[in-house]
Amino acid sequence: MRITLSVIKADIGGYVGHSSSHPEVLNKAKECLEIAQRDGLLIDFHVTNCGDDLELIMTHQQGEDDERIHKLSWDTFIEGTTIARKLKLHGAGQDLLADAFSGNVKGMGPGVAEMQFDERQAETVIIFMADKTSAGAWNMPLYKMFADPFNTIGLVIAPNMHSGFSFEVHDVKESKKIIFNAPEELYDMLVFIGAPSRYVVKAVYHRETDEIASVSSTQRLALIAGRYVGKDDPVCIVRSQGEFPAVGEILEPFTMPQLVEGWMRGSHHGPFMPVAQKQANPSRFDGPPRVIALGFQLSSGMLVGPRDMFDDPAFDEPRRWANQAAEYLRRHGPFEPHRLPLEGMEYTTMPHVMKKLEERFVDL
Ligand code: F6R
Ligand code: MG
Ligand code: MG
Repeated sequence: MRITLSVIKADIGGYVGHSSSHPEVLNKAKECLEIAQRDGLLIDFHVTNCGDDLELIMTHQQGEDDERIHKLSWDTFIEGTTIARKLKLHGAGQDLLADAFSGNVKGMGPGVAEMQFDERQAETVIIFMADKTSAGAWNMPLYKMFADPFNTIGLVIAPNMHSGFSFEVHDVKESKKIIFNAPEELYDMLVFIGAPSRYVVKAVYHRETDEIASVSSTQRLALIAGRYVGKDDPVCIVRSQGEFPAVGEILEPFTMPQLVEGWMRGSHHGPFMPVAQKQANPSRFDGPPRVIALGFQLSSGMLVGPRDMFDDPAFDEPRRWANQAAEYLRRHGPFEPHRLPLEGMEYTTMPHVMKKLEERFVDL
């Protein structure tokens, strides 16, 4: 059975501040998607939030980039925004950057990750959702999952993974893409994906079968809006088991709380903390950045689950480590490398301050 799995998300209002989402907004989204399921547009759905981001997880048979699915998501965000306005939530409608829907939500503010595939006998998927960080946050975890044998032993000992994976990398500034084959082009690939503010892993494919293994949202809000309007807070879908990494190999990269862009005012480096969904309410200095992982088995498109994968004491230590890193970085206050380098601040007040003081800068 050919299935499309779509994860479409937007921050349409925070409760309290930018820390989390209001139950009434989540309920409204569920209502909207329930109607679409009753009408036969969706096979199944799951609505959740990661911090202040509303996450619509949907299965259907309309394919990727389908106008009806995108319109359903847009309309759901609009309905949620109406509630957010009524409750005077913070930043109501924040990520809806266009006035009216025009065929596809890409470029309009919401983040999108979609993949179409033939559902396997057992179709295991993990959906990662992040808050207070940007689109490149998946680069290192995806590299570890699909290219690093120290993380994924299956690359070495599973015959159906041994020929490796290919990575589709997007240059989000120049709007270009390139495919790298792992393992033989790893050194070339790392030159680019090691710079995640510009080069972002969009998709990963199984090389032998060309099957889609992973898709992430790569929308960069600041590049769409031309100003700071909140962080991208990306999502990423990963298929698991069989010819793909095992669940444990997919979660393992998150035991190292890598430093990502985001946190307070989207202008800091902070540790990417893996948490249970109920703990994804970033409050300390509006952070630190969070990642949640919901696991599902698909059954003819029905979402059996979720299992909250980071709700496991085995991730207590990574969380403690993340808190220590957060503490250490916070002591730097407004100094780099806690604060982003100047290029990362171009959509904040930084250019205005530069402009204001331009004439006072005299030659040495
Ligand atoms: C970061 C984020 C928050 C806000 C901060 C100021 O992505 O959402 O850190 O930037 O709370 O928010 P405003 O400007 O909406 O008052
Ligand atoms: Mg927000
Ligand atoms: Mg957010």
